[in-house]
Amino acid sequence: MPKRQLLCIALAAACATPALAAKPSPDDPDVRAAALVSQMSDEELGVLVHGRMAIPFMGLTVPEGAILGAGYVPGIARLGIPALTESDASLGVAWIMGLRKDGATALPSGSALASSWDPDLLRAGGAMIGGEAHAKGFNVLLAGGVNLIRDPRNGRTFEYLGEDPWLAGTLGGASIAGIQSTHVLSTVKHFALNDQETGRQFHDVHIGDPAARESDLLAFQLAIERGQPGSVMCSYNKIHGAWGCENDPLLNGVLRGDWAYKGFVMSDWGAVHAVDYALKGLDQQSGEQLDRGVSFAALPDLAKTDARYAVRLREMNQRILRSMFAVGIDKDPPVIHPIDFKANGDVAEKAALEGIVLLQNKDGALPLSLQTKRISVIGGFADSGVISGGGSSQVQGEAGPGVSIPLSGAGPMAGFMQQAYHKSPPLTAIRALVPGAEVTYRDGRYIADAVVAARKADVAIVFATQWMTEGLDQPDLSLPNGQDALIAAVAAANPRTIVVLETGGAVLMPWLSATPAVLEAWYPGARGGEAIAAILFGKANPSGRLPFTFPASESQLPRPVLPGSTTIEADFFGNSKPGETLDVDYDVEGADVGYRWFARKGEKPLFAFGHGLSYTSFETEGLRLKAGKPLVAEATVRNTGARAGAEVVQLYLVSANGKPTLRLVGYQRVELAPGESHPVSVAIDPRLVANYEDGGWHQSAGNYQFAIGRSATHVGDAVEVKLPELRWQDVGRAARAGTEGKRGRNRK
Ligand code: BGC
Repeated sequence: MPKRQLLCIALAAACATPALAAKPSPDDPDVRAAALVSQMSDEELGVLVHGRMAIPFMGLTVPEGAILGAGYVPGIARLGIPALTESDASLGVAWIMGLRKDGATALPSGSALASSWDPDLLRAGGAMIGGEAHAKGFNVLLAGGVNLIRDPRNGRTFEYLGEDPWLAGTLGGASIAGIQSTHVLSTVKHFALNDQETGRQFHDVHIGDPAARESDLLAFQLAIERGQPGSVMCSYNKIHGAWGCENDPLLNGVLRGDWAYKGFVMSDWGAVHAVDYALKGLDQQSGEQLDRGVSFAALPDLAKTDARYAVRLREMNQRILRSMFAVGIDKDPPVIHPIDFKANGDVAEKAALEGIVLLQNKDGALPLSLQTKRISVIGGFADSGVISGGGSSQVQGEAGPGVSIPLSGAGPMAGFMQQAYHKSPPLTAIRALVPGAEVTYRDGRYIADAVVAARKADVAIVFATQWMTEGLDQPDLSLPNGQDALIAAVAAANPRTIVVLETGGAVLMPWLSATPAVLEAWYPGARGGEAIAAILFGKANPSGRLPFTFPASESQLPRPVLPGSTTIEADFFGNSKPGETLDVDYDVEGADVGYRWFARKGEKPLFAFGHGLSYTSFETEGLRLKAGKPLVAEATVRNTGARAGAEVVQLYLVSANGKPTLRLVGYQRVELAPGESHPVSVAIDPRLVANYEDGGWHQSAGNYQFAIGRSATHVGDAVEVKLPELRWQDVGRAARAGTEGKRGRNRK
């Protein structure tokens, strides 16, 4: 392998221009893109840089040649350049308010997928939804949401992959790689710091550069390195006064400067406010009808009189084409063909099984015996399906939801405001598992009625739901519609009350001490009912671990009141009025997101990041650190119980050079038969140990302590290792400074 190529792999990111490589192959995506750009007419240079919505609503029509989906960018037939046919999103091919009738396989929510702590699962899920997109004629999936859960009230919590940059970045990268393995181009989104929906089109985030690099930006950086997404979708919000899609420091400085990202930046839908965003790093305008009078179609004309536009227009085309070729969407164009929904449902069910988290299990209340005689199932539309999250990521199976509750009767976005349930009723699945039992169902609307049913039963199972959607945040962390009172009353009537939560994110549990067992099933996707039943009755052993902290109260959060929540009227698109702004101060917690904030403040959460119980027990022993590049941690995990199960070994940095700290620096999910032991080995990314300062990463010399944790609040004995001082820069910055290849070396 040529030396330069080896170096590129070692640096784990894109390298400098192919022109420098010894002999660029004509198949090289950069070379192919450059050859095409050189043949494009002025008019053709304006084709790929803007797209339209392909949704027939609000007076719009589906453009000719497009497929009904989020967006469409026409191709250039003369040059053999295919059109881009775009669909949402990370959980499957979107249903778009029922405008698409064909149905798709819904993965469980992002919070469920992240609870698996299993990159292989995310990769398989990505390949499954990529395959469905391909079979429906799409070659772009608007997937890869890795915004961190800075606030559990964020309405898109269910789409994202938790509060920790290493977890979200590694899992997001795996999902993107899975999608792109099907030659469907994936985004990573929403770049960046788009961590609340309230005022989403005008809130202005403030955070110091080092803190951003160590938290939200690190999640993106890792997902990009691992997934190599063809595109980065820039976000609606402002960061330090500039909108995400005009944010020169982020797009040109960090993304394509420091990280040497070679793909293209596409806008979120309705996030472009001026044509000069092209000069600030935006390569492609999406869904331009939402941008009210602003269109990148004007760029070829601007290029005639302004050299800056002329240069950028070529670069924008180069980047878009380069990604199309790198992903291979031209070599393997999507062809509409039937989908094996049975096989894909199996993928979704496995994901649900790995993602469900057993939060509490007193006195072995779970699993339930298959000999149980009388079971009372209550609430949560458990007779009809499992809840799903709303907005652009909403997926539905063929013929749509089992139940759909309209939550807003009027306006063009009413179609999105539907609390929709996948047709996978837990009640049916429970009855199938215990055919000899009498299983009754009460809808839970009336507490007295539910209590009568619960009293007569050997076991009561209450299903409680919390609907979330893009565009709106949760006002607080309570379960809506009086469900807390329902659970408390049922638990008082029957001490064997099991609570199954189907929530997008964290909720408070005022009734927790009155119930022996709580299962967090999230939005469990196309086969969620089956997965829940399998775990309740011990056909499967729960192995999910929380990807974010469950607070005991909103007062423990960095911002006890969500910014804007008391002043801004909820609006799906969150459109701003001229001059309107909402400052959001992330310097409060800085890089100490979620569990790190709780540790810093000494706050005790309701359930900690990383928490999750099993029907078996595990021990992890023999932690040792092997200094080197990279630093490696090794240990042995053993299943000490009587059932097969999976443990997630979590490695935390607990003290850095004498300073107490708490950072997840590695994890590994291991399946173990009863009594079985398995070695685990975790290579620690140096960025998780270092701090970002003065434009680079800095690991100070000293003693560092690491410990294995069952969660962020249950860490074992620390093991110390001495580390040298290291300073290095991200690959692009190092290349500019002429220090490429010295990453990880001591250059003090
Ligand atoms: C969302 C994006 C989505 C896009 C296209 C926007 O409202 O923020 O995540 O990909 O719509 O549907």
